[in-house]
Amino acid sequence: AQRKQIDKVLALFRLTQEQLVGIRDKMRVELEYGLKRDTHPLATVKMLPTYVCGMPDGTEKGKFLALDLGGTNFRVLLMKIRSGRRSVRMYNKIFAIPLEIMQGTGEELFDHIVQCIADFLDYMGLKGAQLPLGFTFSFPCRQASIDKGTLIEWTKGFKATDCEGEDVVDMLREAIKRRNEFDLDIVAVVNDTVGTMMTCGYEDRNCEVGLIAGTGSNMCYMEEMRNIELVEGDEGKMCINTEWGGFGDNGCLDDIRTQYDKEVDEGSLNPGKQRYEKMTSGMYLGEIVRQILIDLTKQGLLFRGQISERLRTRGIFETKFLSQIESDRLALLQVRKILQQLGLDSTCEDSIVVKEVCGAVSRRAAELCGAGLAAIVEKRREDQGFEHLKITVGVDGTLYKLHPHFSRILQETVKELAPRCDVTFMLSEDGSGKGAALITAVAKRLQQARR
Ligand code: BG6
Ligand code: GLC
Repeated sequence: AQRKQIDKVLALFRLTQEQLVGIRDKMRVELEYGLKRDTHPLATVKMLPTYVCGMPDGTEKGKFLALDLGGTNFRVLLMKIRSGRRSVRMYNKIFAIPLEIMQGTGEELFDHIVQCIADFLDYMGLKGAQLPLGFTFSFPCRQASIDKGTLIEWTKGFKATDCEGEDVVDMLREAIKRRNEFDLDIVAVVNDTVGTMMTCGYEDRNCEVGLIAGTGSNMCYMEEMRNIELVEGDEGKMCINTEWGGFGDNGCLDDIRTQYDKEVDEGSLNPGKQRYEKMTSGMYLGEIVRQILIDLTKQGLLFRGQISERLRTRGIFETKFLSQIESDRLALLQVRKILQQLGLDSTCEDSIVVKEVCGAVSRRAAELCGAGLAAIVEKRREDQGFEHLKITVGVDGTLYKLHPHFSRILQETVKELAPRCDVTFMLSEDGSGKGAALITAVAKRLQQARR
């Protein structure tokens, strides 16, 4: 009887082929809505033009700074790009962003960022240097050019005040001015998906999609200009940051959302928003697992029916724990050890159930993400009128990189749901900061050509 109750909960996370096809098709509809000028009132996939129109051609060169804000780590980077050889030398340093700063005031946040730049320049022996800078800023921004980006709303774990509706490039410039110690030329603001696509595109010209499965979930791709109503001109292509994390915010995923998804949403910093992201990304998967475990415990099916203080604590299951628990090389005894480290006292049976719960949640995440990706590659194939499409997707993010099954299930799902596309997945080895530097280099080259 106990087993039946557990299976009933796990079944809520199983998606049929038919449901996945439905999700792929809904995503397709939302992608098309978002490209329209008079954005549909229910359109939730933002489809933001990025003003990135081409890939680096190998002639870029010079020294560039890059900032990389919004993933697990905040990094400051220095890149030296040599033309011709497609070689980039990279130096970087990771800095912490304390929670009080992520959720403090915008001024404090940007002052902190500039402080980190100062430390980095010091460390590199570049004090007072004047360098072009590319800013990877992994949040939804409305752009009117490559060097302007108005933050639409914070997502993930950020909530600094007085930033939404402001141009983050201006905020950075002002913080640099306040410090009055160095002068930087901010040339480009770039989403992490776009940076990832560029990093991979530097090596593979077929790379026209960037995917992040990390703290958050998002995708960008190269779209035909003639399909982008918001931007003048019909020639060539432009990269669109889809911000697909918002898929489902109009209720179109309600038939598959569970009570646990709703609880996670309600306990988040942005209730009602980013519903697809909350079912597919690292910041939330552990929270879904925790909600299920609480429920199973309440039903007396786990942890001897005792809900510990730990289990009530938000955020205890980070992606890395899910990844460890689901690793096939791990004996159950080790799963118990991990749970113990988390302060959860489990029996052997408990640890089997916990592992199953983690598996159900991460499998659904990978399948949902795969359905989304299938929508975009199919769209690209149809738009170009090809029978078959060969395309490369640049990927980054802790969930994709660390989880033992996520990437495989994602790839299998894409194969099933987009059978006429031959999709190569290319892992970005250098993060999106490198891509931001490349975009900066291209922008700088074009700037100089115009003068
Ligand atoms: C990194 C990028 O490589 O991938 C980050 O440089 C990005 O900017 C990240 O946000 C996504 O992964 P995660 O898991 O750190 O959110
Ligand atoms: C969130 C952000 C998006 C970013 C993604 C991955 O969805 O809104 O801009 O690309 O996380 O980091």
